Amino acid sequence: MAMPSLIPQALAGATAGFPVKVNPKFDGSGLDLTSYKYVTSYNNFYEFTTDKGGVKELANQGWKTDPWTIKIGGLVENPFKADVNELVKKLGGIEERIYRFRCVEAWSMVVPWDGFPLRKLIELAKPKSSARFLKFTTFVDPKSAPGQKRRTIDWPYVEALNMAEATNDLAFVATGVYGKPLPNQNGAPIRLVVPWKYGFKSIKSIVKIEFTSKRPVNTWQQLAPEEYGFYANVNPEVDHPRWSQASERIIGGGFSARQPTLLFNGYEKEVGHIYKGVNLRLLY
Ligand code: MTE
Repeated sequence: MAMPSLIPQALAGATAGFPVKVNPKFDGSGLDLTSYKYVTSYNNFYEFTTDKGGVKELANQGWKTDPWTIKIGGLVENPFKADVNELVKKLGGIEERIYRFRCVEAWSMVVPWDGFPLRKLIELAKPKSSARFLKFTTFVDPKSAPGQKRRTIDWPYVEALNMAEATNDLAFVATGVYGKPLPNQNGAPIRLVVPWKYGFKSIKSIVKIEFTSKRPVNTWQQLAPEEYGFYANVNPEVDHPRWSQASERIIGGGFSARQPTLLFNGYEKEVGHIYKGVNLRLLY
């Protein structure tokens, strides 16, 4: 008789490295955490549906996120494929970081993510000097992900960072949230978290990372280049063509909870230097 799994389907992502400890550098002091309930039930994951409240149910109807292989390749000395649990062990485990999270749709959360700095994975891959960008790709499986039966997006979902962004201390790869493996709806078992950028850069359920010399075209830029750029840095002064970015709705904060948007989502000290001399209005 098969042993029943101790981990319910909804928590099927990568289990390696738990329990986690909070990194004191990102302990969230001064921030009010968004509840687990909101973080895991108000989701953008177009592979399943464009209805934020409907992702959780559709992503937990048999879509398997364990085991899961991620492939690292392109312009690197050490291309490799690894199961996500094995990768976590190889990189020396995971830690918790509390980050602000801001969607381009002008809502925000504060989320305790569990994972490892992207830089650690880059060091393992050993990029060649010609590598200037990292291109991230999400799975394709229309049988499990009904949203992929529709051509809302030219699947797979793709995102990218330049090398300075990817090696910044804030760039994080999450395998968990709130001290537990990532639920499917949050991008199990492995996703990107770049908190100074709009949420669409934080690509979910990654199957491939390629190092490239040319700048990749990310999914939202391809869909609507006049609305979504490559950089997508949070910026209160650069409005979306159809709405203001000056303030944001706080998810779980009550009906009228709003706050002013911060440049780079409050992480100017950490990432401002990357964009010195860059015209942030043109390179939105
Ligand atoms: N990644 C994939 N593969 N597909 C998506 O639709 N949506 C993005 C991002 N990553 C998305 C994705 C957007 S718009 C946001 S705001 C965040 O995921 C939402 O992450 P969350 O549901 O964990 O809050």
